[in-house]
Amino acid sequence: MGFISCSNLFSVLFILCCYLLHFSIAIDTITSSQFIKDPETLISKDGNFTFGFFSPINSTKRYVGIWWMSQSTIVWVANRNQPLNDSNGIVTISEDGNLVVLNGTKQVIWSSNLSNKTSNTATAQFSDYCNLVLMESTTGNILWQSFQKPSDTFLPGMKLTSNKRTGEKVRLTSWKNPSDPSVGSFSVIFLDRINLPELFVFNETQPYWRSGPWDGVVFTGLPMMTTPYVDGVHIGDDAEGNIDIYYTVPRDITLVIYNLNSQGQLVAKWWDYEKKDVQIAWSSKLSDCDIYGICGAFSSCSSLSSPICSCLRGFIPRNKQEWNRHIWTGGCVRRELLKCERMNNKTTKVDTKVDGFLKMQMVKVPDFAQGSAVTPDICRSQCLENCSCIAYSHNIGIGCMSWTGNLFDIQQFQNGALDLYVRVAYTELDKERNTTIIIIATLIIGTLIIVMCAYVMCRRSSNNTAAKLLHSLKSKRKKNIKALQLFNKVGTLEDHTSDSIIRTLSQVKLQELLLFDFEKLAIATNNFHSSNKLGQGGFGPVYKGKLQDNQDIAVKRLSKSSGQGLEEFKNEVVVICKLQHRNLIRLLGCCVEGEEKMLIYEYMPNKSLDAFVFDPSKNKLLDWRTRYSIIEGIARGMLYLHRDSKLRIIHRDLKTSNILLDEELNPKISDFGMARIFGGREDKANTIRVVGTYGYMSPEYAMQGLFSEKSDVFSFGVLILEIISGRRNSSFYDNEHALTLLGFVWIQWREGNILSLVDPEMYDLSHHKYISRCIHIGLLCVQEVAVDRPTMAAVISMLNSEAELLPPPSQPAFILRQNMLSSMSLEKSHRPYSINTVSITDISGR
Ligand SMILES: *[C@@H]1O[C@H](CO)[C@@H](O)[C@H](O)[C@H]1NC(C)=O
Ligand SMILES: *[C@@H]1O[C@H](CO)[C@@H](O)[C@H](O)[C@H]1NC(C)=O
Ligand SMILES: *[C@@H]1O[C@H](CO)[C@@H](O)[C@H](O)[C@H]1NC(C)=O
Ligand SMILES: *[C@@H]1O[C@H](CO)[C@@H](O)[C@H](O)[C@H]1NC(C)=O
Ligand SMILES: *[C@@H]1O[C@H](CO)[C@@H](O)[C@H](O)[C@H]1NC(C)=O
Ligand SMILES: *[C@@H]1O[C@H](CO)[C@@H](O)[C@H](O)[C@H]1NC(C)=O
Ligand SMILES: *[C@@H]1O[C@H](CO)[C@@H](O)[C@H](O)[C@H]1NC(C)=O
Ligand SMILES: *[C@@H]1O[C@H](CO)[C@@H](O)[C@H](O)[C@H]1NC(C)=O
Ligand SMILES: *[C@@H]1O[C@H](CO)[C@@H](O)[C@H](O)[C@H]1NC(C)=O
Repeated sequence: MGFISCSNLFSVLFILCCYLLHFSIAIDTITSSQFIKDPETLISKDGNFTFGFFSPINSTKRYVGIWWMSQSTIVWVANRNQPLNDSNGIVTISEDGNLVVLNGTKQVIWSSNLSNKTSNTATAQFSDYCNLVLMESTTGNILWQSFQKPSDTFLPGMKLTSNKRTGEKVRLTSWKNPSDPSVGSFSVIFLDRINLPELFVFNETQPYWRSGPWDGVVFTGLPMMTTPYVDGVHIGDDAEGNIDIYYTVPRDITLVIYNLNSQGQLVAKWWDYEKKDVQIAWSSKLSDCDIYGICGAFSSCSSLSSPICSCLRGFIPRNKQEWNRHIWTGGCVRRELLKCERMNNKTTKVDTKVDGFLKMQMVKVPDFAQGSAVTPDICRSQCLENCSCIAYSHNIGIGCMSWTGNLFDIQQFQNGALDLYVRVAYTELDKERNTTIIIIATLIIGTLIIVMCAYVMCRRSSNNTAAKLLHSLKSKRKKNIKALQLFNKVGTLEDHTSDSIIRTLSQVKLQELLLFDFEKLAIATNNFHSSNKLGQGGFGPVYKGKLQDNQDIAVKRLSKSSGQGLEEFKNEVVVICKLQHRNLIRLLGCCVEGEEKMLIYEYMPNKSLDAFVFDPSKNKLLDWRTRYSIIEGIARGMLYLHRDSKLRIIHRDLKTSNILLDEELNPKISDFGMARIFGGREDKANTIRVVGTYGYMSPEYAMQGLFSEKSDVFSFGVLILEIISGRRNSSFYDNEHALTLLGFVWIQWREGNILSLVDPEMYDLSHHKYISRCIHIGLLCVQEVAVDRPTMAAVISMLNSEAELLPPPSQPAFILRQNMLSSMSLEKSHRPYSINTVSITDISGR
């Protein structure tokens, strides 16, 4: 009885709520005089996010929060620990300028708690789409934002951070239960565990779930996370020891939000417009194997096997009876002592046979990895030499990972993830070999039987499908052999141990993908005929080609001055092939034949940006919106090179002719990684050369050969100003004052004379504010002193948030032509040290 009347009451309340909501007034800002009173709301610009009062399911308490699409997806709660008991609540700006929630008797029950008291001239409103900001009305300075204090939902633009030095963290915290938003026991934390960034869910202080280390593109323990996510997730760090993760949603892509539910599962949700309801796209707990360390030490979990836990090869359950009863917590122990352990144990006979490694494929690697940037071979030998190292793994994005102590939380997948090499005593290797022999023997016998059957079938049936099958099998094998030969021609096999053959085989795969035949390229480009020449870059000519399967390609024939060895060259190409971003041109592979080295790229029909911006017949095609999205795209590509790609590549030659445009005029940066391919390492005297183009080079690079991310920022600034003004920096000429483009823009901008410096083809009064802001950002990038220039991350944030107040720029470098000419003649060699603030951060794995 009680239950029925109660639920009836709820539905009445619910209908009443909807009724009231429907007619409630929605305002767009909260000020000290304009407050919202239960059940009024504040709605975001796109209409998808609402700020106001709500009651969770099965609760009568009132909370103030933000919801997405419907009240069933609350994304943020203000007074989560201080609920209102009735619907007399008010949200307003208090006298000290704080955003506050008041109860019926005007008592403050929640406050934004600004430490600095300001006047009550602050206003609160939605910025972008889901961030509620409190700002000073007069200056627009942001005083507080809801993104700083996340609840249980991760939204685009929101940052989860942790500081290595202070231990401070911005984290998501779960609700207690679906009816109670107060802080529950789970939290999502982005951590830099022994210098490898990784996402965790914690239950109080215990890890409950982990994503596997970030390899620069994906989290390695999430095999379903593939490259389409590349654009979305960004990871960064700064000099203060902060690391952070955030994601962005490209335009026209469905918005996904990540919610930590009260059971500790991180769940990705999207809105189904047809069903008018949220749908779940992904969950961090798909099986029990996703629970951190469920199988104990030295074991792995596979959701497809039964039981789910098994000891690693060479290990046995610590407690057999418990293990058989599916109590996994005891984990497993080593069956045979390792060499070091045998040496320390005086009771056993000392032998000196070295340990070896057993390979596990496609696993989420254990927790507590230590990272270092060395090659796979060194990684292996370092681990073998160090008694405390018990496993290693190598990944091109992360480098070498090694483990000491217990191995925890290994998960077996069916695809993706990483390979792990676990150290075992040599006796275990022998056992392994024996079983391999048995497997191979079975395979051979099996194959023989199949072949015999096929033979019999061939003889018997008049139609010869089986023979065809055999034939195609044979030709496939031939191809593989050819690939092997190719490899042998290019590289050298150092030794013929089983290991190096395994390595060779795995690299053959890469070779098939990457290595192009010189002959084919010659045919594709009509013998590098000059009519196919697309242009001449600093590193050699580029030709257009058409492969036999009709795919268009661009072939860059590198000039012979590259001082790099073949192995090095190939390694670099492999590394750069891994860089994938929608704003970077895709490198398809390379070709090495004798002295010839070539790089093969995807072909861009629209050529480069300079062919548009500076061409009076074409610049009409670029309206403000297009130019803005080009600027933004270049910025994103650069950020990926600088921060997100793990390799931290400095482009060193960013200019309009290096920006290619696809059919939809999306920008793609080309020629990245050239410094790497050309072995531009500072410790090699024979490869020292100045790359870069005068006019785009920062003063510290042009004059002292110092380069850093900030020199790229300088070039980017020049690019912005060229795109907006439609004038070429190098050929800009100002008779009267001998000004450079930078000098001209600087003076016009200071005089508020925006119109005179903007390309008239794109000027539109309605965009005046944005154009002016963009010029401002450009000027910030070309400032004389490198530290004053913003990072690419800061540039993107400035481009995206209109609310952010920009600092005034100081005078740019190279104002006068004279000045620039004299610096051009000063070609100095690079110096391998840094002066003051500009550090050499070129290109080293982290
Ligand atoms: C909500 O967001 C979608 C894209 O996620 C957008 O298309 C739509 O216009 C927005 N506004 C409303 C009221 O749905
Ligand atoms: C709300 O309460 C009803 C009745 O007690 C219960 O059946 C339902 O599961 C509850 N919903 C949630 C989300 O707790
Ligand atoms: C709501 O009621 C509880 C218990 O009656 C009380 O402790 C709490 O202070 C009240 N909250 C507010 C905001 O008035
Ligand atoms: C408002 O809050 C104060 C302090 O928490 C409490 O003493 C008072 O009773 C509350 N008033 C109402 C109407 O809940
Ligand atoms: C604001 O500060 C007070 C006192 O320091 C604290 O009790 C309260 O929890 C803080 N509120 C928020 C929302 O941080
Ligand atoms: C508070 O004000 C001081 C001086 O006005 C300023 O240095 C400080 O950064 C401000 N702190 C915050 C959190 O805004
Ligand atoms: C979270 O930890 C608590 C103890 O700290 C434990 O009682 C609870 O079962 C854990 N929750 C889950 C889902 O493992
Ligand atoms: C030493 O070896 C003996 C025999 O193999 C074994 O029983 C014992 O546990 C070992 N001691 C240590 C400290 O590992
Ligand atoms: C072995 O590895 C441990 C942990 O990585 C390290 O602390 C120790 O210095 C290494 N020992 C040697 C001899 O390299």
